[in-house]
Amino acid sequence: MDEISLDPTSPEFTARRAEARKALDALDPAKNLEMRGGAADDPLRRDWFEAVYARAQNDPARVPWANLAPHPLTKAWVGAQVKGIAGLRALDVGCGLGDNAECLAEAGAEVTAFDLVEAAVEWAKRRFPRTTVDYRAGDLFAPPADWRGKFALVHECYTLQALSAPLLPKALAELSSFLAPGGKLLIVARARGEDAEAEGPPWPLPPSIFTEARRQGLKPLSIEDIEATADVGRRHWRALLGRADEP
Ligand SMILES: C[S@@+](CC[C@H](N)C(=O)[O-])C[C@H]1O[C@@H](n2cnc3c(N)ncnc32)[C@H](O)[C@@H]1O
Repeated sequence: MDEISLDPTSPEFTARRAEARKALDALDPAKNLEMRGGAADDPLRRDWFEAVYARAQNDPARVPWANLAPHPLTKAWVGAQVKGIAGLRALDVGCGLGDNAECLAEAGAEVTAFDLVEAAVEWAKRRFPRTTVDYRAGDLFAPPADWRGKFALVHECYTLQALSAPLLPKALAELSSFLAPGGKLLIVARARGEDAEAEGPPWPLPPSIFTEARRQGLKPLSIEDIEATADVGRRHWRALLGRADEP
């Protein structure tokens, strides 16, 4: 590992990522018709997510979403909060290698971050040995009971779009359930038009995700439809939602 580039903009990193992605796509039941039967047994694609982190062998280039930095839309949102987020209890959902959780913690939030894959969580802890983030392995669909109603800020980046459409209503209901009174959910995800073909995974989210969010107890407070820029590459949503049961 000594000589390899860890700069995500370097040609070496890009080449390793492309090679890994090819192999991972071949393993992904959601991408392979002949493996679709397997997808029914593993709707969360747990085996595939486990394989991503296991096969990476500590090389972040081999984790397709790992850019070794917070997402620019998350980072900018955190920086723009007039009152700041210091002291807020925050939850990062599907935290991967931890960069977004660390961004929230650096701004002073008291952060819990979890991922389906234990190896991801262990890797995040190794990357940030002095972290204040409480990293845990866990499943969005089976969260600890004591997370209900406890978080002032819930953040998800690219996890909803990694879930197949039938899982989204329950995922939104779970996200909603984490919000404390007055709490907010920040979603950062790739966006698509309602009728555009979604050749995922990942499956960019259509505008109707916000209609579904309402059904699941969430109220959109602001929805930004962000066109592709040099910073974010493709069209994205950055949306802030509150609890529908609050004025
Ligand atoms: C596309 S990655 C995004 C990771 C991170 N949020 C980022 O932006 O770099 C989605 C992450 O969600 C995790 N994940 C998938 N399903 C999950 C579930 N049911 N509960 C918790 N995490 C999950 C995956 O293991 C993966 O690390």
